[in-house]
Amino acid sequence: MSAFITALFREQAKLCDRLGSPFMAELMARCADDIEAGGPTAAFIEGHADRPAEDVLTLRVAGALHAAALSRRDEALASAYASIADGLNMDVVWRAVREYLAKIEPWARAFLDIPPQTNEVARAAALLPGFMAAAEGGGGKLRLMELGASAGLLLCWDGFRYAGQDWRWGEGEGPELAPDWRGAPALYGGDARALEITARRGCDLNPLDASDPEHALRLRAFLWADQLERRKRLDAALGVARRLRPQVERAGAADWLTRELAGPLPEGASVVYHSVAWMYFPKEEQDRARDAILSAGARASADHKLYWLQFESAHLLGEEGEDMVTVLSEWPGGERRVLARADAHGRCVELQD
Ligand SMILES: C[S@@+](CC[C@H](N)C(=O)[O-])C[C@H]1O[C@@H](n2cnc3c(N)ncnc32)[C@H](O)[C@@H]1O
Repeated sequence: MSAFITALFREQAKLCDRLGSPFMAELMARCADDIEAGGPTAAFIEGHADRPAEDVLTLRVAGALHAAALSRRDEALASAYASIADGLNMDVVWRAVREYLAKIEPWARAFLDIPPQTNEVARAAALLPGFMAAAEGGGGKLRLMELGASAGLLLCWDGFRYAGQDWRWGEGEGPELAPDWRGAPALYGGDARALEITARRGCDLNPLDASDPEHALRLRAFLWADQLERRKRLDAALGVARRLRPQVERAGAADWLTRELAGPLPEGASVVYHSVAWMYFPKEEQDRARDAILSAGARASADHKLYWLQFESAHLLGEEGEDMVTVLSEWPGGERRVLARADAHGRCVELQD
C-alpha cells in the first residue's frame, strides 16, 4: 500500500487533533500504522484507493466504521463506540475496530463509496445576524433560498434556539446554539412566531432527506464519534426538519437560482444564502449564480427586498483573516456589510460593528 495513503491518514490525524477530536486523531494514526503493517485496514480499503486524496478516503473509512457502530451491525464495535461517551480508551476501541475491519463486511465496504457529507447545524448561529437583519427589512416575512443545502437543516434555522449571556431567541424542541458570542445580535421578535416564512427551499447536487433513516445515518456517521454535542445538535435539528419539511431539490446552484429568481420578488424579504458551499461551485457556476442575484437585485424595491447572505471563508469573500465571515448584501441599493466572524463549526461568533 502506498506511502501516500499512509501519509494522508497521518495528516488527517494531525488535523483532527487540531480540530478537537482526540478519538479521530488516534483512529487515523492507528489506521496509518495498520495499513503500513499490511493489517486489516489495508485489506478493507483494497479497491477503494485509486483517488485517496480526492475521495477523502480517510473520512470514508471513519464514516464507514461509525455508521456500522451506530447501526449496531457489530455488537462489539457498537459498544466500543458507545463507551467513548464515558472517556476514550483507544486500546478498547481499536481492538473492536480491527476485528470489525478484518471481517471486510460488504455493507461497510459499500459505505466507502459514499462521499463524506455533513450539514453543520451550529453554523446557523453565524447566519443568525443576517436572518435577523433580513427579517427587520422584510417586516418579518421571509422567503428562504439556500444553495448547497445538504439535508436542508439550515433552512430550519428558525426552529432552533439561540442563547447568549443575557439574551435568548427561539423556543421549542430544536437544538440550542450557545456559541462563544462576542457581542449580541440585534434580535427580531422573541422567537419564530414573529416571522412568516413563506418558503424554505434549497438545492444541492446531492440532497439528503432528513426523514430518510439511511440519510440521517450518513449525516451522523460523518460526524466524529467523540463530538457528542454535535451529534445531539444534529439529532435535534433532524427532528425540526422532519416537522418543517424544507424542500431541497437535486440541482446545481446556478441553474436552480436562475430559475427561482426569474419571476417577480415576493413581498417581504427573499434571502439567498449559503454556508461553506460557494467554494465547491465551479467558477462558471459562481458567476452565473452571482448574475442571477444581481439581476434580481435590480428588480428589488422597498417592499420586495433581496438579501444575499454568505457564510464562507474570509479569503473566498475577499476579506482578511484565516477564519470564516458572515457577509450580507441587500437590495435595493446593493449595500454590503460584514456582520460576523466565526469558526467553521460555529463555536465562536464575533459580531462586527
Ligand atoms: C460542505 S457542505 C455544506 C452544507 C451546508 N451548507 C452546511 O453548511 O452544513 C457543501 C454542500 O454543497 C453541495 N454542493 C457542492 N457543489 C454544488 C453545486 N454546484 N450546486 C449545489 N450544491 C453543491 C454539496 O453536495 C454539499 O452538500
